[in-house]
Amino acid sequence: MAAVPEIPARCVIWFGQPLAAERTALAAAGWQVRGVATDGAVAIGMRGNDLVVGLLDLRSVAPSHLTHLQAVLDQHRHLRVLAILPAGAAAVHPQWQPLLACCTETFSAPLDVSRLVQRLQELGDEQQLQPPSGAQALIGESPALQVTRAALRKFAPVELPVLITGETGTGKELAAHALHALSSRHARPFLAVNCGAIPAALVQSELFGHERGAFTGAANRRLGLFETASGGTVFLDEIGDLPLDAQTNLLRVLQEGTIERVGSNQPLAVDVRVIAATHVDLEQAVERGQFRRDLFYRLNVLRLPLPALRDRGSDITLLAEHFLASFRQRHVTRARGFSSEALQAMQQFRWPGNVRELLNRVQRAAIVSEAELITVADLELEPEGIEVPQRLLHDVRQAAERDALLRALRQNDFNITACARTMQVSRVTVYRLCRKHQLALPELR
Ligand SMILES: Nc1ncnc2c1ncn2[C@@H]1O[C@H](COP(=O)(O)OP(=O)(O)OP(=O)(O)O)[C@@H](O)[C@H]1O
Ligand SMILES: [Mg+2]
Repeated sequence: MAAVPEIPARCVIWFGQPLAAERTALAAAGWQVRGVATDGAVAIGMRGNDLVVGLLDLRSVAPSHLTHLQAVLDQHRHLRVLAILPAGAAAVHPQWQPLLACCTETFSAPLDVSRLVQRLQELGDEQQLQPPSGAQALIGESPALQVTRAALRKFAPVELPVLITGETGTGKELAAHALHALSSRHARPFLAVNCGAIPAALVQSELFGHERGAFTGAANRRLGLFETASGGTVFLDEIGDLPLDAQTNLLRVLQEGTIERVGSNQPLAVDVRVIAATHVDLEQAVERGQFRRDLFYRLNVLRLPLPALRDRGSDITLLAEHFLASFRQRHVTRARGFSSEALQAMQQFRWPGNVRELLNRVQRAAIVSEAELITVADLELEPEGIEVPQRLLHDVRQAAERDALLRALRQNDFNITACARTMQVSRVTVYRLCRKHQLALPELR
C-alpha cells in the first residue's frame, strides 16, 4: 500500500500535553494535534503548502527537559513556534529565555483556546496567500524529483539561461518560477510569455518593443517584454514556436545583452535572465531547420529536465493527497482521502497529462465523490474495454520497460547520465532498472 503522508495539511506539534478540551477545539477548527513528549525525539518534515505550527507548552514541561527542547527547536528553525506560559508566570523564568527566543508569540494560562485557534487560522490564511515559491513549491520526494530540485538550486544563482524540458504538465512553469524566486533577481519582475500564443507578426514587437510609427497601427512607442522585465527574468514558454527572425534577435540578447526595438536600429542594453521551456524536442527542430543551432547551444547550457509523473513513484500519492487537502481548504467536500484501490490505480496509471492531469482528476473526484474515500470510479481510472488479466498486463509492461531501457542505453552508448536524461529519470533509477531487468552493464558495453 502507498505511504500515507507523515503530516496532514494543518497540524500543531504540541510539545507537552494538551488538555482534552484544547485538543477538541483545535480538531473542530481543522487542526490535527500531534503531542510530542518534551524529552522525546521528533522529526518534522514539511511539504508544499503544509502548515505546521509548534506549540511549546511550558505549563507542563519539567525543568530537566528544557535543554533537550532547546536542541529540538534549534534543529527546526523553519518551524513557527508559539508558547504557552503557566498561570501566574508574570516574570519569565530565566531558564525559559533561550527557548522563548525561538517563539514568535506567547499565550498565558489559563489558555484562551478560541484566541489560540483564531491566531492559528490567521497564520494559515497568511501562508495560503503566499504560496511557497522556490524549490519547495515542487512537491515530491522521489529520486527523480530530488535530482530536479538539486539542479534547480544549483542553477538558480547562476546568471546563465536555463532550458526546462519535459512532457506537458510536468511543472515546467512552476520550475521557472522557482528558479526566479531562488535567484538574486527575485525582487524584480518575472514575466512569462507563451511564444506559440502570439501571432508571428507581433512576436518581435511583444518581446523587444517598437518605436512610434514602426508599422501601421504603431501609434506610440511601446516597451517590449525584455525592457519591462529589466533586472528580472523573462520566461519564454514553448520556445520551439518562436519564429526564426525573433530567434535571431533573442540570440543577440543572449550574446550581447542588447535588444533593438522594432523600427529602430539603436541597440539598447537589457539586464534580464532568460529561462526557456519546451515540450518538443529542440534537437529535432534544429535538424529540421526550424530552430537555430547557435541559439539552441546558447540556451542548452543549463538543462533542467522534468521527469514524467509516472517515473516519480510514490510522489503520485503525495501530490494527490496534497491536491485533495488544498481542495478541502477551499471547498466543502465529503472526500477525506483515497481508497486503497484508488491509490493503487493512480500508482499504475501512465499519466499522459502528468501533474496537471492528476490535479484535474483529483479535483473532479473530490466534487463527485459520495463517500469519505475517493474511489477508482470517481477518478475515472477504471480499465476500459475487455478485462486484460492483471498478470498479462504486468508482463507486457515489464517487457516494454526493458525495451525502453535497452533502447536508451544503446542510443547513448551505455552512458548512464545520458541515458537517464533521455529517459527523464534519475541515474539511480537507470541503475535500479538495470538490476531489475538483469542487464549487466559491463557485459553489454
Ligand atoms: N511538483 C509539483 N508539485 C505541486 N504542483 C505541481 C508540481 N508540478 C506541477 N504542479 C502543478 O501542475 C500544474 C501544471 O504545471 P505547469 O503549468 O508548471 O506544467 P508545464 O510543464 O508548464 O505544462 P505545459 O507543458 O502544459 O505548459 C500546475 O497547476 C502546477 O502548479
Ligand atoms: Mg507550461
